[in-house]
Amino acid sequence: MNDFIAGLPKCELHLHIEGTLEPELRFELAARNGVTLPYADVAQMRAAYAFDDLPSFLRVYYEAMNVLRTEPDFYDLAMGYLRRAAEQNVRYAEIFFDPQAHTSRGVPFDVVIRGLRRALLDAETTLGVRAQLIMCFLRDFQAEYAMATLLSSLPYREWIAGVGLDSDEKGNPPAKFAAVYERARREGYLLTMHCDVDQDNATEHIRQAIEDIGVDRIDHGVNALEDLTLVEAIRDRGIGLTVCPISNRYVTGSTKTEQIRRMLDLGLRVTINSDDPAYFLGYVSENLALVAEELELTREEVVRLERNAFEIAWLPRHVKNRYLAELDGHLARA
Ligand code: ADE
Ligand code: ZN
Repeated sequence: MNDFIAGLPKCELHLHIEGTLEPELRFELAARNGVTLPYADVAQMRAAYAFDDLPSFLRVYYEAMNVLRTEPDFYDLAMGYLRRAAEQNVRYAEIFFDPQAHTSRGVPFDVVIRGLRRALLDAETTLGVRAQLIMCFLRDFQAEYAMATLLSSLPYREWIAGVGLDSDEKGNPPAKFAAVYERARREGYLLTMHCDVDQDNATEHIRQAIEDIGVDRIDHGVNALEDLTLVEAIRDRGIGLTVCPISNRYVTGSTKTEQIRRMLDLGLRVTINSDDPAYFLGYVSENLALVAEELELTREEVVRLERNAFEIAWLPRHVKNRYLAELDGHLARA
């Protein structure tokens, strides 16, 4: 099965580019930018990556990205991820970035997006990996800051496929960002948002995301299974779910693979993704392998997870069809 997964053409839809900052690159960027880190080596740095819930993870995540300062830094971050993605036969990725995690520390929006964009263009020609950007708002900041970020993104509208919402969900419901999402939709952005696992008011947040915001996709969202009306709404509207089992194990104590099984059985468009792989120690192949093992999936079921991902990807039909044909070819050869 692991060989089958290694060769499978893959689609990654839930990946925070800042969550791919591996310790080695963090050291390199710190040296480049004259930032002093309180660790002697990678082992010490990794030992400080101690978290057991979302807030404790986010503290580590935001602290680490302080080394990202210049356009080449963002280029190297994205290129590093895309190289690893290519090694795992990721054919297409939709990549989250958190501009406010940088603009709030004085790094201009322009610096962030130009570096990321240049890496995406180079990766397509040199690695054959296609990718698009999704701009996330930080939900623990004010809605006005999200709106200002949305407006500052408009000169780069063609470089961004859609918007998302991440960071700490507690006390920060989707409704807080209704006006921001309304404007984003009018600007032509596609819409997704995190509905993180086992949050307070999780099902009410999912309801708001679907009914009040009108999202095209939901990131995580496994608590939808607790409410049949949500399951029906997700199925009727064809909303995809980007689930991240290794991440869930770190922040909730459970891989939630039983919920993935139920989503498959209910015919929901569930997909498997890696979230913040430099911290959760698993890229998309490791996440797929974990689900395949825990659920004893057949090859056909693994292909179905990947088919779901290409189906809900924000790509034109003819492009999806090319990737779906690659998937069929892999299954036929297996
Ligand atoms: N930002 C980066 N990773 C995140 C996660 N797993 N949940 C919410 N916000 C995030
Ligand atoms: Zn995430």
